Amino acid sequence: MTATIIDGNALAAQLRADVARRTAELTARGTQPGLAVVLVGEDPASQVYVGKKVQACADAGFHSVLERYGADLTEADLLGRIAALNADPRIHGILVQLPLPKHIDAQKVIAAIAPEKDVDGFHVASAGALLTGTPGFWSCTPYGCMKLIESTGIDLRGKHAVVIGRSNNVGKPMALMLLQKNATVTVCHSATANLKHHTLQADVIVAAVGRQNTVTADMVKPGAVVIDIGMNRNAAGKLCGDVDFEGVKQVAGWITPVPGGVGPMTVTMLLVNTLQAAERAAA
Ligand code: GUN
Repeated sequence: MTATIIDGNALAAQLRADVARRTAELTARGTQPGLAVVLVGEDPASQVYVGKKVQACADAGFHSVLERYGADLTEADLLGRIAALNADPRIHGILVQLPLPKHIDAQKVIAAIAPEKDVDGFHVASAGALLTGTPGFWSCTPYGCMKLIESTGIDLRGKHAVVIGRSNNVGKPMALMLLQKNATVTVCHSATANLKHHTLQADVIVAAVGRQNTVTADMVKPGAVVIDIGMNRNAAGKLCGDVDFEGVKQVAGWITPVPGGVGPMTVTMLLVNTLQAAERAAA
């Protein structure tokens, strides 16, 4: 039996339709959700991501502002812009696209965003809220993965989830979200001695490494849910994830494709967070 493909595009479309409906209601009551996206420099990938975010805002009926600055913008000037956006009542969410140029301290910039507008979920206050299970914004990519896992209908309570990767914005928050749903969580990383030993026990595998073929069929328990956060290019230049999709789909119960799995969910959860910020501001 081959795995059921988890369709990220379909789930994203469903969630975005709900966001658009709630946005129309909130706007009719006098509050249009507003997102400010700040892009510094000319990084080509960042320009593509930012374009997608601004388009998604327009499609959902949000007010959105794209602020673009040259790579020579000073840290002080950027902090000044963040302060102005923090004080702007039309803006409910602020996203500073990463990476920033080297002369700017990204941590300092993220720390300057008002936590109630931190729709990326990168602020230490947002990370702390996730850690303690108190209200706050969840980082969009792992939050999108949780929605994909939920869409399979499996109950995470008592299940063994293995997260591969420990970045601050993906691997670590992913592990905390799974823990909050009562999964037993193992976090594997570049220093893990025997990755296969861990993944073979997993009911859920989330791969967030950035290296193709990190998870192969011999590493997966039959029937497991496999979520692939990787975005890599193979030797032929084709987009691929961290999971050997063709091999693993013969063993897994559910699997996300790349593209069309986690990718469309990241921007969707940004919309969900921004709408929630606007709803809180209007309450
Ligand atoms: N750069 C790559 N992904 C992201 C993201 O989700 N948010 C921000 N702010 N920058 C990014």
